[in-house]
Amino acid sequence: MLSSHLYYGAARCCFTVNVIMAQIVSPSLLSANFGNLQEDLKMINSSDADWLHIDIMDGVFVPNLSFGPPVLKYVAELCEKPLDVHLMVVNPMNYLPALKELDAAIMNIHYEACTHLHRAVTQIKDAGMKAGVTLNPSTPVCLLKDIIEELDLVLLMSVNPGFGGQKFIPHTVEKVKELRALIDSTGSKAIIEVDGGVNVNTGKLLADAGSDALVAGNAVFKDAAPHAVISALRAM
Ligand code: DX5
Ligand code: ZN
Repeated sequence: MLSSHLYYGAARCCFTVNVIMAQIVSPSLLSANFGNLQEDLKMINSSDADWLHIDIMDGVFVPNLSFGPPVLKYVAELCEKPLDVHLMVVNPMNYLPALKELDAAIMNIHYEACTHLHRAVTQIKDAGMKAGVTLNPSTPVCLLKDIIEELDLVLLMSVNPGFGGQKFIPHTVEKVKELRALIDSTGSKAIIEVDGGVNVNTGKLLADAGSDALVAGNAVFKDAAPHAVISALRAM
């Protein structure tokens, strides 16, 4: 969409205010080849991708495990893009010191995992990272009303979190519109990012509805021409 907002630029932790006419694209490492991450990270570095999306799962908040800070340390060394970390864990704030150490750009915590959300968001920002709050598909946008002005980003899940390659939940398009209206009516600077089942078709619906950033796992890493998919999503 055409918008003026905080844009997290290509150099890690370089945040500038730009006017852009594109979606920010954050390929999800979860769909990469774990047997050869180096190769896939090279592809990301040489692509138009804006960020790299990192899914951390604990097997409790979601029924799956992915990777944690020890693996992320090597990813952070090899990846030249800002790290957009999505924590699908029951105690997300336990990861704050490790993510700060890894120079993560964005720390996304789930609304459903945080009792004291305002405190958590403040702590993330005090640690020098951008604060994102993630909503599961069944969590309504209106619950963010009293925190939206504090947020740098809202991550809307368009699948139930835990796995790559799932089918996009169409109702997310309405949630993007609702969130856009909430952000515009409050003067919040929050970026709207969407995660799950995003491809060039669903990405277009989201961009038209007012999204700013798209996460894409399977659509990028399982395609024979990943650079082209990233560029196409960016141009939405
Ligand atoms: C799902 C993760 C997503 C996932 C997206 O729980 O949060 O980031 O990797 O993968 P695709 O784009 O394949 O749905
Ligand atoms: Zn994710």
